[in-house]
Amino acid sequence: MKDLAYRTASSYQQAKQHANDNPEAFWADIAKNFEWHTPWNKVLEYDFHTPEVNWFLGGKLNITENCLDRHLKTQPDKTAIIFEPNDPNDAAQHISYSELHSRVCRAANMLKANGAKKGDRICIYMPMTPELAIAVLACARIGAIHSVVFAGFSATALAARINDAECSILLTADGGFRGAKVTPLKDIADEALTSCPSIKNCIVLKRTGQYVSWNNMDLWWHEELEKVNDNCPAEVMDSEDPLFILYTSGSTGKPKGMVHSCGGYMVYTAYSFQNVFQYQKGDVYWCTADIGWITGHSYIVYGPLAVGATTVMFEGVPSYPDYGRFWEVCAKHKVNQFYTAPTAIRALQKHPVELVNKHDLSSLKVLGSVGEPINAEAWHWYDKHVGKHNCPIVDTWWQTETGGILITSLAGVTPQKPTFATLPMPGVQAVLLDNEGNEIEGETEGILAIKHPWPSIARTIWGDHERYKNVYFSAYPGYYFPGDGALRDAEGNFRITGRVDDVVIVSGHNLGTAPIENALNAHKAVVESAVVGFPHDVKGNALHAFVIPNSEVDPNELTDELRVLVAKTIGPIAKPDRIQVVSGLPKTRSGKIMRRILRKLAAGEYDQLGDVSTLLNPEIIQEIKQNS
Ligand code: WTA
Repeated sequence: MKDLAYRTASSYQQAKQHANDNPEAFWADIAKNFEWHTPWNKVLEYDFHTPEVNWFLGGKLNITENCLDRHLKTQPDKTAIIFEPNDPNDAAQHISYSELHSRVCRAANMLKANGAKKGDRICIYMPMTPELAIAVLACARIGAIHSVVFAGFSATALAARINDAECSILLTADGGFRGAKVTPLKDIADEALTSCPSIKNCIVLKRTGQYVSWNNMDLWWHEELEKVNDNCPAEVMDSEDPLFILYTSGSTGKPKGMVHSCGGYMVYTAYSFQNVFQYQKGDVYWCTADIGWITGHSYIVYGPLAVGATTVMFEGVPSYPDYGRFWEVCAKHKVNQFYTAPTAIRALQKHPVELVNKHDLSSLKVLGSVGEPINAEAWHWYDKHVGKHNCPIVDTWWQTETGGILITSLAGVTPQKPTFATLPMPGVQAVLLDNEGNEIEGETEGILAIKHPWPSIARTIWGDHERYKNVYFSAYPGYYFPGDGALRDAEGNFRITGRVDDVVIVSGHNLGTAPIENALNAHKAVVESAVVGFPHDVKGNALHAFVIPNSEVDPNELTDELRVLVAKTIGPIAKPDRIQVVSGLPKTRSGKIMRRILRKLAAGEYDQLGDVSTLLNPEIIQEIKQNS
């Protein structure tokens, strides 16, 4: 396949110019490098008001032919996936493109044999083993829409996602290894499936070998595979057919099932992958994310495989068996591009630097960061100790909704600036708006917005187009509104300042405060609650819950029960760091909770509360301060 990357500042400038002058011709030029059964007859049709976005209209393709089949002609034996297991004593696996193709086709036939067909939704709740990537690609092979649910979510959260998309099959495993822990995935799935009438079959991968109970609809993955062969022609998909659904938090209790479509997503993830990381033939690339998040979808599976890269999949965690594990894996597989989250860097930076230095990191060429703003201290530690001042750092801003990286530097090609994501990718038109929705120019701070579609923008929220419109296109008509604030320097570099809505990014995970409040309110002793984020030196942000109990309860017992309840309803990642029992919450006279004030209280910024005299209950501030 042709190299999609701009390798010099001048070719980058040219691309930017071309994209500005004629966006459709620009994207058509990139899309030509993929294999289409039928070429598109129109590049783009869109209206941000309805909102409707269609790319490469009339084009027919299958993304797996682009990620697998076409590489069989040129590099069948090249390693597609290096699997590094949780336990460093277990052997790593190298899966070639031809082996991956065969395993995907076989798994696709397994799905078909169990009744799956184009357009069906298949839920995937699996640990980070090669079979997770294979499951994703097998769905894409037959045109089934995959909905991966991160294997740290609870039974309640899993069931809600299965039911929202009415999935017909669940793919899971007996359990998953994560550091010293084993997650009982099948038990959690069993609990979820007691309330998921749409599921007809549950196919279970044997990973840990632990005992699992068995139900009528359960099937063992390995037994099902034995019944089928590996000949599976790809389903021909329309460019705009849905490829997958991936849930993200919103500011109401219900998660949003973002829908991505085949053609545009393929083009953008491959284009951005090669450009941002400056991937070169023969490089080994490692993204430490889980495939349960968008980063894993776009930059472990689809983007790297579309350009024929070698991508590392890591089952474990950065702290097991010690805090040097990431660097050990980098040295072992001679990783060239390493992509992780600021929260991981902050956690590792607390441990002796010897844990980094004892590993040979000389293969590293590029470092990446994703998921939240990277603070200066973490940036410099990453640059000095991991990159040895020799690796460009790409700070990549994007979202589940954007499908791919929108604002970033290109490693070694465009200038980096610590704590700044820097410039929009060629083809991306990012602007800043004031509160009235007017574009503001120059060095300033405002609301980030995108004014022209890019190919991998999510097309809708599954089953709720109205909500898609309301959340992303209504506040500032004519723009895509991502929910982040940003500032811009004199050179046009963007620095993302954080969410401007009720989503908190904790350890790189998007958490809506509303679903957590709903979980807390479900406790019989809770009258009302409010959850806000506060700055945390490792997690970036952590959660502070203010809870009003309804009777004389033991605050310690209550807070313990509430933590368990949140973990059970959403997942352990959503457990508040602090739960404060209070007798009231600061409210406006119309009864609205003043979250702005709660955020200041949680951060201990008592001198920045502003005027509280207009509150309905100003006296509550003193009480909250005193018992915090
Ligand atoms: C935040 C993750 C600052 C941002 C790919 C965004 C970032 C949300 C960065 C999306 C970054 C992501 N700098 N903030 N480089 N990358 N964010 O959907 O608030 O899990 O809106 O996608 O993470 O999180 P999501």
